[in-house]
Amino acid sequence: MRIDILTILPDLLQGPFSESIMKRAQERELLTLEIHNIRDYSQNKHKKVDDTQYGGGAGMVMTVQPIVDLIEKLQSERSYDEIIFMTPDGEVLEQELSNDLSLKENLIILCGHYKGIDERIREHFITKEISIGSYVLTGGELAACVLVDSIVRLIPGVINDETSALTDSFQDNLLSPPVYTKPADYKGMKVPDVLLSGNFAKIDKWREEKAMERTRERRPDLLE
Ligand code: ADE
Repeated sequence: MRIDILTILPDLLQGPFSESIMKRAQERELLTLEIHNIRDYSQNKHKKVDDTQYGGGAGMVMTVQPIVDLIEKLQSERSYDEIIFMTPDGEVLEQELSNDLSLKENLIILCGHYKGIDERIREHFITKEISIGSYVLTGGELAACVLVDSIVRLIPGVINDETSALTDSFQDNLLSPPVYTKPADYKGMKVPDVLLSGNFAKIDKWREEKAMERTRERRPDLLE
């Protein structure tokens, strides 16, 4: 999979993508990640990427030219499955959308800033608009990190334990059951006996029950 991220703050994205699973996915050549600085494509002599709104009003708007030039350059090199814009008024990200996107080959993710981006970019180039929740961030960069993380961990071979991503919370509309590791008794705090029993049928049943109980208590909406 290839993901191209378009941003005016490339440094903000470097850290999250050079650690842990993101790093491994790139080392294993399961992911090609390119971060592009929108400012590099500005034809303005001061490398401006924003301007005041037509009709007046507070807040700057990201201009069409650098973003469109960058998108068109990328599109001349390969075809993209989706051109995604991170925005609080987009479709709210859920596991199913991450699952779908993890099957794509080439994605562009555009991070917005200021008051927004010129609507003509959304109308003519963007194919999907995604929000990571009902709150407003300073820019789309952190949202893009969340989206990319949720997608990349689903690519086969990225996570070592193959079954691990499939047993995540939400994959079957249930939260995950509790997990424990050694020691079996820490200062009197004990691991449930069933997990030490070696009876895998019983363990599976216990996990199912706990997953259901937890979902009923914490996220009953998932069971509707
Ligand atoms: N940009 C600003 N806020 C956002 C949000 N909640 N989701 C996605 N992109 C955003």
